[in-house]
Amino acid sequence: MPTLRISNSGSALLLLAVLTTFMACAPKKSPPVPMDLAQESIIPIPVSLTATNSSFELTNATDIYVQGDSKELLKIGQYLADKLNPSTGLDIKVKSSNEAPAAGNIYLSIKKDAELGAEGYVLSINAEGVHLTANAPAGLFWGVQTIRQLLPPEIELPSKQAGPWRMASGTIRDKPTYGFRGTMLDVARHFFGVEDIKRFIDLAAYYKLNVMHLGLTNDQGWRIEIKSWPKLAEYGGKTEVGGGKGGYYTQEQFKDLVRYAQDRYMTIIPEIDMPGHSNAALASYAELNCDGKARELYTGTEVGFSTFCAQKDITYKFIDDVIREVAAISPGPYIHIGGDESHATKKEDYILFVNKVQDIVLSHGKQVIGWDEIATASLKKNVFVQLWSDEKNASLAVKQGAKLVMSPARKTYLDMQYDSTTKLGLHWAAYIEVDSAYSWDPATIIPGITQKDILGIESPMWSETVDTFDEVEYMVFPRLPGHAELNWSPATGRSWAAYKKRLAAHGPRFTAMGVDYYPSKLVEWKEDKDKKLKN
Ligand code: ACM
Repeated sequence: MPTLRISNSGSALLLLAVLTTFMACAPKKSPPVPMDLAQESIIPIPVSLTATNSSFELTNATDIYVQGDSKELLKIGQYLADKLNPSTGLDIKVKSSNEAPAAGNIYLSIKKDAELGAEGYVLSINAEGVHLTANAPAGLFWGVQTIRQLLPPEIELPSKQAGPWRMASGTIRDKPTYGFRGTMLDVARHFFGVEDIKRFIDLAAYYKLNVMHLGLTNDQGWRIEIKSWPKLAEYGGKTEVGGGKGGYYTQEQFKDLVRYAQDRYMTIIPEIDMPGHSNAALASYAELNCDGKARELYTGTEVGFSTFCAQKDITYKFIDDVIREVAAISPGPYIHIGGDESHATKKEDYILFVNKVQDIVLSHGKQVIGWDEIATASLKKNVFVQLWSDEKNASLAVKQGAKLVMSPARKTYLDMQYDSTTKLGLHWAAYIEVDSAYSWDPATIIPGITQKDILGIESPMWSETVDTFDEVEYMVFPRLPGHAELNWSPATGRSWAAYKKRLAAHGPRFTAMGVDYYPSKLVEWKEDKDKKLKN
């Protein structure tokens, strides 16, 4: 490319005048009308789709009608209106109706269709309107995400854009393969505030994830207020990796996060990691240590050096108090007990501890999840085991009747570097380029483990090396949408070659949403990363 050199301000002004005149006279090109639904870049790809070669346009006559006066459906309708109004500049209203509205509108309704399950939906689009149906509200919410992806990327911008706002016509019938589709943020190594978590929830919901696991405690910080043991947060929450100021969520803030997630059909799973990864608690209360001496706060990145004292009664009184308080603010069914890398705990103490803590969680009406090491203890009924490292533990878990959450580090750990040039992140499990994150199947990756043993994939974002949410976004995107597709879409016919074309079209969507993504060279992004969409 020849470079244009401007030698003085006179010629610069002349150039500007010529360019301005040219731009004012050039006819504005409308974007092509989307006519072929089969060419649209939906992630996760729907189970089935029929294109009918016309399109629907949002106009100033468009409103969203929901069936009946269900508060829940009205809320979903309003969520969609709130996504569409800022960028279109339209005044789309949400109204109740017991029958399909007149032409030009969007209609959300519940229609029994057993095959779709609790989260599936049918989206029918023609020139006259858009009709979204589902067995249950969650299905409507996921269908709304598909509607967003069928509109131009500028729909995600926060200010008015030119339009037009058209969607290709046809019918989509869609439902997830796995019911547990998760991601995780470690808020202990570095703390992330309520607004960051809400943003993560929104971005995950766009790809139809329904689980947000928060690693609330670790050696470097305790991030949730526990009223009966106040020093945990007030003292144990004061640090983070590198010596930053840390922080914690009050119970009121945590409840607000839970509500925010519920409104997006997402369950928050709180993790209290134990008996290892517990230095922040051991620094806050001396009596939790076997030697009765409080530990120093810790801001490094070593693992495996801390443990609660499995032989002391006070340990279990403490855990009972913590689990009771966390269970009371967590309406979801699960509490994650960690259990990973407890290298400072004797084997017999570890087994004793995990057995007792399972009973504590059950006594507060919650179901246990733990990292794969907990499968070396005797698992109670309905325990979920999260594979991250040792496949033998996954097999042990399945032999005990447990179901698996699949988080193999070499494929799903979002803190792993893309390649040797990535500045953030680590690479102890693998370098994970975008193709590697996508090209595997949870149901075949471990011999002897099949789809019936698996709840779904969860993609953990550990935070030793990231300290701003922009940095989190760079590691999470664009790998998380790939994991979302493995979770939602059928494995048959899956191909990186086809997926990477759809992913390329999400570049402008990430940009419109302000997501600071990694522009992998393996993908021919549909935008120049230096020429971001106008905000
Ligand atoms: C883990 O990565 N320690 C679960």
